[in-house]
Amino acid sequence: MNLIKKMLAVPATVLALWAVSAQAATSDDIAKRLEPVGQVCVQGKECKGMEVAASAGGGDAKTPDSVIAKHCNACHGTGLLDAPKIGDAAAWGERAKKEGGLDGLLAKAISGVNAMPPKGTCADCTDADLKGAIEKMSGLK
Ligand code: HEC
Repeated sequence: MNLIKKMLAVPATVLALWAVSAQAATSDDIAKRLEPVGQVCVQGKECKGMEVAASAGGGDAKTPDSVIAKHCNACHGTGLLDAPKIGDAAAWGERAKKEGGLDGLLAKAISGVNAMPPKGTCADCTDADLKGAIEKMSGLK
């Protein structure tokens, strides 16, 4: 082998090795980028990133609107049995004043008062669920 050929052969080998390692780094990167997408979620097992979808998708998650629609609207929608009507800020405001604000109303909603059943019939509502519904119905904060 003459000198010229040797000088050409060395860089060619180096180049070839470099190309291979560059390729490896690239597919590594791709694998990393695909990781979150490529994860398989098995039903019944925890799956990263699914908590958000679960809380957004309903299931048992309650929103003020869903609580009101299912439990409060029956009476508060029409003012049945003299229930303060949804959106009647004056009626709610008066009651809030009497009970010492939103938290006072919440306490009454939890215990029930007169024709207002305890928890407004939403037995599995948390205090926060009820508070959210009261806020929404009354416009109070
Ligand atoms: C069966 C009918 C009925 C349902 C269902 C109902 N309410 Fe009521 N609610 C009433 C009546 C009637 C009153 C007025 C009671 C009174 O002051 O005599 C009332 C009053 C209230 C008050 C004011 C309490 C006060 O001290 O002035 C709050 C707060 C309230 N309801 C929240 C709710 C929420 C939240 C829900 C749904 C989760 C709900 N209610 C479902 C009938 C109902």
